[in-house]
Amino acid sequence: MKVRFKIYHFKKISSTNDQAKTLAEKGLIDVVVVADEQTKGRGRFNRKWISSLGGLYFSVLLKEKNTDKIKYLTFIAAISVVKAIFQSTKLKTKIKWPNDIHINNRKLCGILTENVLGKVNQVIVGAGININQSKFNKKISNIATSLKIELNKKTNKEKILSHFLKEFDKLYVQYKNEEYARILKLFKENCDTIGKNVKVKTLSEIFCGKVIDVDEDCNLILKLDDGKLKKIIEGDISIVD
Ligand code: BTN
Repeated sequence: MKVRFKIYHFKKISSTNDQAKTLAEKGLIDVVVVADEQTKGRGRFNRKWISSLGGLYFSVLLKEKNTDKIKYLTFIAAISVVKAIFQSTKLKTKIKWPNDIHINNRKLCGILTENVLGKVNQVIVGAGININQSKFNKKISNIATSLKIELNKKTNKEKILSHFLKEFDKLYVQYKNEEYARILKLFKENCDTIGKNVKVKTLSEIFCGKVIDVDEDCNLILKLDDGKLKKIIEGDISIVD
């Protein structure tokens, strides 16, 4: 299957999401910006995303009228990363709600979805996958991993990207057809956060409880220690057990 995206490849840029934003402002859509290294890679909550050689850093730029459901784009990207990694390496990875892919309790990939508001609404879905890095700096070495560390051998980055784009494009058709229930089901099958006891940090509060579901608006549903239900729209979770 031929992928319909036009790919722009850079050796080193600030951030593929920022570069995709520049292309968005020029009116481009359906393009993918890929970089070997980023000097200003960003994560959620404006955190730095360390983007050294060996990782795969890319952003997909899409046109999007209805921005209500764009969290589903993060979900389809996460599912596509899990599938692409499995197709290339046979490694089974899991999604941590809403945007992390992990294996053996360490993070392998993060996804950052951003909206570009303008004459035409565009959405940028950026992903950083740790592929051929042999090690990470001290600050993150106990929470991050790469395919190289897990498999003790190199993986072809281009193949991962091409599997990703094929899977993403398939799921994007479901997204465009508003088949959200189908996507949510697939997300839940690949997400291991449901059923776990977690600590959730939102921008202003901290909640502890058991994850009982992900709802149709992509929120996490938490049963708090006092038995009440709490809907988490955005937050950072750490697994307690
Ligand atoms: C996160 O886990 O907080 C999300 C990390 C997203 C990183 C990717 S790397 C490619 C794209 N460009 C960026 O600056 N960020 C995303």
